[in-house]
Formats: sequence, structure tokens, C-alpha cells
Amino acid sequence: MVKIDGSNSKIAENLKGRDLLTLLDYTSEEVAYLLEYAMNMKKEYMAGNMPRLLAGKTLGMIFEKHSTRTRISFEVGMIQLGGYGMFMNARDLQIGRGESVYDTGNVMSEFLDGIMIRANSHEMVKELAQHTTIPVINGLTDIFHPCQALADILTVKEVRGSVKGLKMAYVGDGNNVAHSLIIAGAHMGMHMAVATPEGFEYDPDIFGQAQKIAEQNGGSVMQTNDPVEAATSADVMYTDVWTSMGQEEEAAARLEAFKDFQINDALVAHAKEDYMFLHCLPAHREEEVATSVIDGPNSYVFQQAGNRLHAQKAVLANLL
Ligand code: CP
Ligand code: NVA
Repeated sequence: MVKIDGSNSKIAENLKGRDLLTLLDYTSEEVAYLLEYAMNMKKEYMAGNMPRLLAGKTLGMIFEKHSTRTRISFEVGMIQLGGYGMFMNARDLQIGRGESVYDTGNVMSEFLDGIMIRANSHEMVKELAQHTTIPVINGLTDIFHPCQALADILTVKEVRGSVKGLKMAYVGDGNNVAHSLIIAGAHMGMHMAVATPEGFEYDPDIFGQAQKIAEQNGGSVMQTNDPVEAATSADVMYTDVWTSMGQEEEAAARLEAFKDFQINDALVAHAKEDYMFLHCLPAHREEEVATSVIDGPNSYVFQQAGNRLHAQKAVLANLL
């Protein structure tokens, strides 16, 4: 049983002060620990308890892109932990008019106890993390979305009791959400199947790393261009938008390329009868997912969104 304050734990000691840029930088034990901690955090919250583990601490929250869930869940999470989440639109910061990442990181380290950043470029976030003395948490880049993935697996764990050995099918774009989801599932010994159209595959290098992690945990990772192959006997069906933030000019071409990759009643008929449907949101009904599926009885998308709060409170309490 993980202690919510993390005391007496070697893992907790190792997590203090760390960045969270991608779950590739974490061991499977650390990911399992964070998920267990998040479950306990949620239980405490449901019982009306909010341990003030970050009293007096401030998280700077930098956004280069839009957000509803990430902004609200991090800000509320910091408040519930007794600290403060400070929203900063990157456009309003000096970095938005050319101040260097080096100077920004060093200056922010003087004021803040941690940074959460949603950025266009993962490389920029890596550079920021190099020039700060405080933890940097990735709130979505072009390549990864690790906090989303923790909330996703937490939701499956909550609903199914355990996740090891379950099959999850991700159908759609091999994007930031897909990358982090498959890595998180691999850490937990799940069988992850990714179906994308040709030309929109999962990053091969990240795929290879996820495969190794999955093998170490008794799970597997596979990739196909056939949504039915991925969906067959799946316990969880997952999708994300076909056009991510910043790709708007490709939207029409993507609609055409992805048209056979919608999660709809015909596709979920290949999954287990009690399959769970997940989506990181925001969703486009009748594009990547049929309304009947996302608003149907197998959909857990709002519980999943709510779990961003609990998963991130676990991250914040351990890293800051
Ligand atoms: N899923 C997710 O990150 O949502 P937002 O873009 O609203 O933060
Ligand atoms: N892939 C999407 C996720 C949004 C939470 C995007 O990057 O826009």
C-alpha cells in the first residue's frame, strides 16, 4: 500500500525534484507507484480530505496552446494540495517576444517550485528543463502527453480493478496522445494495439522503446493499418482527434485519410462486449468517434477527464 505522503519509500525519494517530460524517462515501478498514489489521492478526496502536501508552493503553468482540462486540473490540483497554480499565456511572457529559453528557465527557477508547460515543441521543453533547477512537467507537446496517459490508465485501473494483461486498441492518428498512451500501457504490462492509416503511423523509435518496456512487463505493442485487427477482443477502445492543434491547415486532407478509422458501432462490435471507450477530449463527434459510442453506456470519457486531477495531484505531490 502506497503511503499518500510518500514516506518510507525509495521510489518517492527518487521522484523528488524530477522532471516529467515523457514516461520513457520513468521506470515501470515508478509509473505503477504514481498510479497507486493517485488512487489513494482520489479516495482521500472522495472522503472529503485534501492533504496540504504543497502548502506555500507555486506551480507556473505556461501555455502556448489552448486548454480546458489541463489548465483546470493543474490549477485545481495545486489549490487542493494547499499551493497555487499560476496561469501564464506564453504570448504575454517575454519568451513570446524572443527572450531565450535559457534566461526564462533560470529566472523562473528563482520564483517557482515547478513548471507545467504546454508547448508546440518538445525540444523546447527539453531545453527549458535543462535550464531550470525546478521540476518541469509536460502538459502536452507535439510528441508526448504523459499526464493524459497517467489519467487514462488510472481510469482503466479504477473500472477494471487491474490493467495487466488487458488489451487496449488505439485507433486514429499516431500522435502525442498515442505515443504517451502506448508507453504507459507498456509500463503496466498491457497489450497495446495501434491502428493508423498509412503515413500516420506511430513514431518508429518511440514504438521500439515501448515494445521493449512492454516485453519486460509481460505485455506487448503492435501496429497495423487495419482498425478491425486492433479492435478485435479489445478491453479498451481509444481515439483522439484526427487534426491536432497546429495542424489545422491539414484538416481537409486528414478527414479524407482517416475516414475508415472512426470508432463506431460496427468497429466496437469486434471488441469485448463490456469494452471501455476512452478519449482524451476535446472530441469531434461523427469524425473520430460516433456519437452513439462516445455518448453510449461503454463510454468513460468524463470520469477519464476527472482523473486528470487525481493523476496530476500524485505527480505534483511527488515531484515538487
Ligand atoms: N485532454 C486535454 O489535454 O485537454 P485540454 O486540451 O483541454 O487540456
Ligand atoms: N492530439 C491533440 C490532443 C489534445 C488534448 C492535440 O495535440 O491537439
